Amino acid sequence: MTNTLPTLDALNQLFAARHSCRAFLPTDVPQQTIKDILACAQKVPSWCNAQPWKLTVTSGEETKRLREALMAAALGRGHDPDLPFPTAYEDEYKSRRRDCGWALYEAVGVKKGDRAGSARQMMENFSLFGAPHCAVLSSPAELGGYGAMDCGGFVAGFTLAAQAAGVASIPQAAVASFAPLLHDMLEIPADRQILCAISFGYSDPGHPANGFRTSRAALEEFTDWRG
Ligand SMILES: Cc1cc2nc3c(=O)[nH]c(=O)nc-3n(C[C@H](O)[C@H](O)[C@H](O)COP(=O)(O)O)c2cc1C
Repeated sequence: MTNTLPTLDALNQLFAARHSCRAFLPTDVPQQTIKDILACAQKVPSWCNAQPWKLTVTSGEETKRLREALMAAALGRGHDPDLPFPTAYEDEYKSRRRDCGWALYEAVGVKKGDRAGSARQMMENFSLFGAPHCAVLSSPAELGGYGAMDCGGFVAGFTLAAQAAGVASIPQAAVASFAPLLHDMLEIPADRQILCAISFGYSDPGHPANGFRTSRAALEEFTDWRG
């Protein structure tokens, strides 16, 4: 039997090509392509095969409505996520966070100390970076951290499947910071925790916000070999 599965090399190329997109073209993604991406992403593992993810996927006027509501909320109300945000990024996590933040700011021309510029770039989160679609991801509250973990796998699956379909994407915890608004507007039941959103569409490749790439740590930094 011939092995028709993609090689690790081919998969590595797909992983390397994916990156978070922060400027999209307004062109819609055909619904069949979105369905194909979802059907591919759902093949990730989950504890007990519970498949706890649910997505509310917006297109067209609904994306516009969501964008407008988020932008208004970001100018006014405080943030109120279902899943508490990290309390601190220390040590290497702090430096990686800072490095990717600076890479973005440098790409879009925001200088150190330019608070208005960084606030403007932060607000791009709530305009969904111009994406024509947004998928809001939730997990049953009673599954706790493990439900969130399974959904994290789904996020990886979705973003990689999207890349393979020529669709750019970005996971966004920032959107989940307005959980009450999302529950209300998208009729997501209160017993489901909103974890993040994934904005997606076709990349605007010439936009400065898409002009940088993040790096990854050396294997020794995260692997402890025994035996
Ligand atoms: C769960 C999760 C939440 C994220 N939230 C945001 C966000 O709110 N805003 C943003 O600009 N990027 C967000 N990102 C994207 C990360 O910044 C990005 O994945 C990381 O810097 C690595 O870059 P890459 O995706 O281009 O490889 C998020 C990523 C994940 C996995």
